[in-house]
Amino acid sequence: MKRSKIDRIAVLCSGGDSSGMNPCIRAVVRSAVYYGMEVQGVLRGYQGLMQGRFVPMDARSVSNILNRGGTMLKTSRCPAFRRKTGRRRAIKQLEAADIQGLVVIGGDGSFQGAYQLMQESGLKVVGIPGTIDNDVAGTDYTIGYDTAMNVATEALDKIRDTAASHDRIFFVEVMGREAGYLALQVAVAAGAEAVLIPEVPTDLDRLTDELRRGRERGKTSSVVVVAEGDDAGGALDIAKAVEERLQVRCRTTILGHLQRGGSPTTLERVNASRLGLAAVRELRKGNSGVMVGLIGEQIRVSPLGRAWKRKRPISRELLDLNEILAT
Ligand code: ADP
Ligand code: F6P
Repeated sequence: MKRSKIDRIAVLCSGGDSSGMNPCIRAVVRSAVYYGMEVQGVLRGYQGLMQGRFVPMDARSVSNILNRGGTMLKTSRCPAFRRKTGRRRAIKQLEAADIQGLVVIGGDGSFQGAYQLMQESGLKVVGIPGTIDNDVAGTDYTIGYDTAMNVATEALDKIRDTAASHDRIFFVEVMGREAGYLALQVAVAAGAEAVLIPEVPTDLDRLTDELRRGRERGKTSSVVVVAEGDDAGGALDIAKAVEERLQVRCRTTILGHLQRGGSPTTLERVNASRLGLAAVRELRKGNSGVMVGLIGEQIRVSPLGRAWKRKRPISRELLDLNEILAT
């Protein structure tokens, strides 16, 4: 086994959990062990970091988690960490535990916190994108996105069966308070008649017209995918507005947290494992303030600052594709 300069690291999950975080933790722990580093798990994200909730981990601590949803380390949203005083507490705990490197698995908010922590301490920090929203700049893929897409597509297929049987209009809300990637992808996969996302202003009159014209073209049922954070409101509000305009009763389904759970897909397990190893290799090289991501099939290392300062653009191609194929 090779000896490294950084010999004590920690790993945590932060923000909303996502399926694939467990394979990623496993990869971080086993890669660290392989390279002769000690590794500590931090319970409950930044909240646990501030409280010094470290648990020593070895290769056996991560046995049999590869196929499990959620995160064995648990996660949290921690408002106190947004303040310098909160991060100061975390830095004290890290120093007392003699941790030199930290792997943060989370989304853009978590990376903003990680970046500040790095700036305010001598700690080396590497981010791994983990969120079902897939809204992190510098990577095509975030851990949890693939499983969430598959869960949502399967649900939409089921809704389509009943919508078609009853000649109904359905509004299906998928997660994404600030991002529409998940909604757009599943809309294409499930052949939705329309998709409403936060990145594109919603025009309810236009939507109603499209649904009406669809009926005139012989469509007997319609499914509209609504991202949770759409500017016209949630699926319930939008369904009500369309009902008033069309004078037709609509149905609504909110998929909610179902999309965050479940056994990770094959792709998720492989990608999360690759990113876990890549993160440990970055720390081993002495690198800090970076995020490991995937561009296409390739692992790419990018500045952590860019991951939250930039907004990942929505795919115009997929928006057009959905509109054209909904004809
Ligand atoms: P995600 O990482 O999935 O985007 P959140 O936005 O909820 O999830 O962020 C997760 C946690 O990261 C927050 O609860 C907070 O502890 C930390 N965080 C988010 N934004 C900041 C910030 N601007 N400064 C410091 N810490 C932050
Ligand atoms: O960021 C991940 C996410 O699942 C979003 O899609 C969603 O808007 C939010 O978290 C829900 O958060 P909570 O678990 O706090 O309800």
